[in-house]
Amino acid sequence: MTASTPVLRISGLTKHYGGVKALTDAGFQLMPGEHAAIVGDNGAGKSTFVRLITGVEQPSAGDIRLDGEAVSFHSPLDAREQGIETVYQTLALAEDLDVPANIFLGREITRLNLGPLSVLNHKAMREQSVDMLSTTGVKIQDMSASLRGMSGGQRQCVAIARAAGFAKKLIILDEPTAALGVQETARVEDIIKGLKSRGVPLIIISHNLRQVFDLVDRIWVFRQGRIIASRRTADTNPQEIVGLITGAISPHSLPAEETAAC
Ligand SMILES: Nc1ncnc2c1ncn2[C@@H]1O[C@H](COP(=O)(O)OP(=O)(O)O)[C@@H](O)[C@H]1O
Ligand SMILES: [Mg+2]
Repeated sequence: MTASTPVLRISGLTKHYGGVKALTDAGFQLMPGEHAAIVGDNGAGKSTFVRLITGVEQPSAGDIRLDGEAVSFHSPLDAREQGIETVYQTLALAEDLDVPANIFLGREITRLNLGPLSVLNHKAMREQSVDMLSTTGVKIQDMSASLRGMSGGQRQCVAIARAAGFAKKLIILDEPTAALGVQETARVEDIIKGLKSRGVPLIIISHNLRQVFDLVDRIWVFRQGRIIASRRTADTNPQEIVGLITGAISPHSLPAEETAAC
């Protein structure tokens, strides 16, 4: 593995549901420390792509490599164990539990493990939660309050801190600000910028082009079940991306090396 080995490299990724070609021959790569956005119209194949690289579903064909090693995920847990953490729109948080319990949900630390008699190590989980939140730049006033009283933005930040704390390879955020107001969106975007400065590789699915252009290094355009183009953010503009999304601009009318040929 070298500095130029992609953290994630995907080729020929395909998922057909009977006659429905949800995703065909998708090529994608994410470099170390890179933040990438996935954009495309409804039905373009974005969610299918994410389900395949997070183990929710298995591909009909294709190759997925993490740090150069071929992997196949049989379940979401499998993908997590191999280093991919995903924050879905439905945050998978437990309303009635406090922040540490949510961060360690399904990964509880025990003091004594005697099968059904295991004893949770609340102190260790609390301390590690404080670390994870501060590393990610998330401020929570009262760690022992349940999530019920928190705003959507605070919950989203807890979910991102959890993903960042456990991700060994990369984080995927699915529309992280779709349900948030302006200020909360800005807060979440600051957290994402913090992950960028810490070198945590990240993929964000977003419909918000302003946000995409503010946050990421590279944009991947999905259209009608294919990845039709990728552009360095510095080399494109919202008009071109909208044109690629809608089909008004053909990716082939542009220089060959800038289209998604991988
Ligand atoms: N489980 C499924 N069964 C059949 N067709 C599906 C299934 N999931 C997605 N599709 C179809 O695959 C295409 C891509 O969908 P999707 O990945 O959800 O797109 P996006 O997330 O970009 O809106 C759509 O035509 C959708 O109807
Ligand atoms: Mg979708």
